[in-house]
Amino acid sequence: MGEIVLAAKITHVPTMLLSEQPGKLQGSRQQAIDGHKEIMRRARELGADTVVVLDTHWLVNAAYHINSNPVFKGVYTSHEFPHFIQNLEYEYQGNPALGDAIAAKATEKGVFTLSHQVETLDLEYGTLVPMHFMKPEETNMKIVSVAAWCTVHNLQDSRKLGEAIREAVEASDSKVLLLASGSLSHKIWENELYEANNGTFTISREFNRQVDLRVLELWQQGEIATFLKMLPEYANYCSGEGGMHDTAMLFGALGWDKYTGKGEIIGEYFPSSGTGQANVVFPVL
Ligand SMILES: [Fe+2]
Repeated sequence: MGEIVLAAKITHVPTMLLSEQPGKLQGSRQQAIDGHKEIMRRARELGADTVVVLDTHWLVNAAYHINSNPVFKGVYTSHEFPHFIQNLEYEYQGNPALGDAIAAKATEKGVFTLSHQVETLDLEYGTLVPMHFMKPEETNMKIVSVAAWCTVHNLQDSRKLGEAIREAVEASDSKVLLLASGSLSHKIWENELYEANNGTFTISREFNRQVDLRVLELWQQGEIATFLKMLPEYANYCSGEGGMHDTAMLFGALGWDKYTGKGEIIGEYFPSSGTGQANVVFPVL
């Protein structure tokens, strides 16, 4: 019988890639990279064979969508940040059966979801950046990518998609690492203010930083029900990435306001390009 063995909310900032290369950003995101590696180390220890990534860079304008290709292979350059992510080569195995099962379960719950096996449907960088560091291919782990930049959707439907992920995994034989790939607050610096504010390493609004820190406290204290009461306003006032649908899906999978686990920050909270970022692991109960 399948199970979600570990869940996490994770960063995917493109400067992690620059952190690996010679230049002025070299080494600057090491703790975030180490966080990804540690999360994968734990997932492997728990027997994970598939990573399901809730990707806040995959924008969808109708319905919910899952990329369930059997193989993902290509070379990626970001349209958003072509100077940050260039010619990133990737090759991963997929888990079409699990993607199809999640879509069927969600649709059964009234949340219309399509699972796609379309060779030219590429991955977005909310999936590619973490996978670059976590290296699922090294132990033949499979990946499934779920669209989590949901422009016309409500958070309760995303919660139900999260529930469907859990139910579909438990009805399968997959051991899953579930990753909500998205930031905390997400007000990117205004273009004309970026340089003067050392934008790569700062947050754009003190209000957002203070709310992020409180949210991390709530997560660490296991006050998830309280957090969920504020999630819609948090996503709104702090410009949550992708509307924070990744977060609604994550907590939907964990049990929503009945979840009593405590978040564990791996590494530290850090600002990036105006946004607030962290890697936070949640045990599955
Ligand atoms: Fe992002």
